[in-house]
Amino acid sequence: MEPATEMKLEGIELAERVNRISISPTMAVMQEAERLKARGADVVDFGPGEPDFPTPAHIKRAAIKALEEDRTKYTATPGIAPLRRAITSWHATQLGSCYEPAECIINIGGKNAVFNTICSLINSGDEVIAPAPYWVSYPDIVKYAGGVPVFLPTDQAAGFCPRAEQIERALTPRTKIVIINSPNNPTGAVVPNAEFAAILEVCRRRHVWLLSDECYSHFVYGDARPFSIASVNPSKEQVIIAGSLSKTFAMTGWRVGYTLAPAPLVGAITKLQSQATSNATSIAQYAALEAMLGPMDSVRAMLEEYTRRRERILAGLRAIPGLTCTPPQGAFYVFPNVSAHFTKEMPNDTAVARLLLEREHVAVVPGEAFGAPGHIRISYATSLERIEEGLRRLNRFFGRGQ
Ligand SMILES: Cc1ncc(COP(=O)(O)O)c(C=O)c1O
Repeated sequence: MEPATEMKLEGIELAERVNRISISPTMAVMQEAERLKARGADVVDFGPGEPDFPTPAHIKRAAIKALEEDRTKYTATPGIAPLRRAITSWHATQLGSCYEPAECIINIGGKNAVFNTICSLINSGDEVIAPAPYWVSYPDIVKYAGGVPVFLPTDQAAGFCPRAEQIERALTPRTKIVIINSPNNPTGAVVPNAEFAAILEVCRRRHVWLLSDECYSHFVYGDARPFSIASVNPSKEQVIIAGSLSKTFAMTGWRVGYTLAPAPLVGAITKLQSQATSNATSIAQYAALEAMLGPMDSVRAMLEEYTRRRERILAGLRAIPGLTCTPPQGAFYVFPNVSAHFTKEMPNDTAVARLLLEREHVAVVPGEAFGAPGHIRISYATSLERIEEGLRRLNRFFGRGQ
């Protein structure tokens, strides 16, 4: 696999802020897998961080209706008023929060929500704490904004859960934001509600923002129910919620996310967004409105299917000698430790991912991308049939004593 990294732009002097960041490593895997597929290879693609389900029909119909009604013009930068209202009331019903529309802005996906928030708050040298393993984009967004990402390692044996006391120890006078992503990408870890509340308490006491990335909120397993730290009252003044319709409603390509935060911060994000991208696509906003107001059956159906796939993949991975895997409590990823298979020829997880793709045409993302060397991320947002085929290949790969 070629490193999908910096473009060689001879003679072009790029801005220092762009040179600080690199292309998302998960995108790099997708690109390589696509290249192989285009050459006719039968790739089992465990790479993507997106649902394989189609967007629910009622949501697509709302977009078609919006098109037919010519809702194709600019909207207000923070989004159409009915959608801001609908998001705050959906969030209140589903996740127990209490936001006003003025505390909500619609962004161009959850990534844009995180990006705009960090760019609105971070000054040069400010620190942003993120437990590791972390979502690949956090460090680069922080660096782009001039901040310093600070990673807190979490323990596989403890289910990769960050702890409030660990976060408190890592705070310095420069700490501005703590990012918590629960359910987590890439581990599927879910922070227990009480621990999450304790983390908020630390943030509040030390006047640090808590940025909660809730992108996978509705994919939790067993008896767990979707949880938002915004339901812990009175939490608003220190809390920022980054939400997304991408995963919950299988709408990755529509690019709709949102931020819930105190109104002055929403105002700052609106100012930034007004000079960068303006509003989220008008048609996508009407589709999102239907997602917020319509039935949640498709979300339940997706969760049921993820639950079946999770069981199958966990059983399959457990049967492969040398792999250790913490059962994910949420999202749609497993994050096995493959370090027992390291050899001279295959000394790290990046080499594992490269050889897996080369020899078995199985695409996974190396753990290094998430600040967790020794692991690989397997997405089970793919059919049970492909999971079976992928497990066969993983067995062959790890079974032949690399
Ligand atoms: C943890 C996390 N946050 C945010 C996002 C952004 O999603 P989107 O921009 O599609 O809403 C992703 C996507 O993979 C993610 O995994």
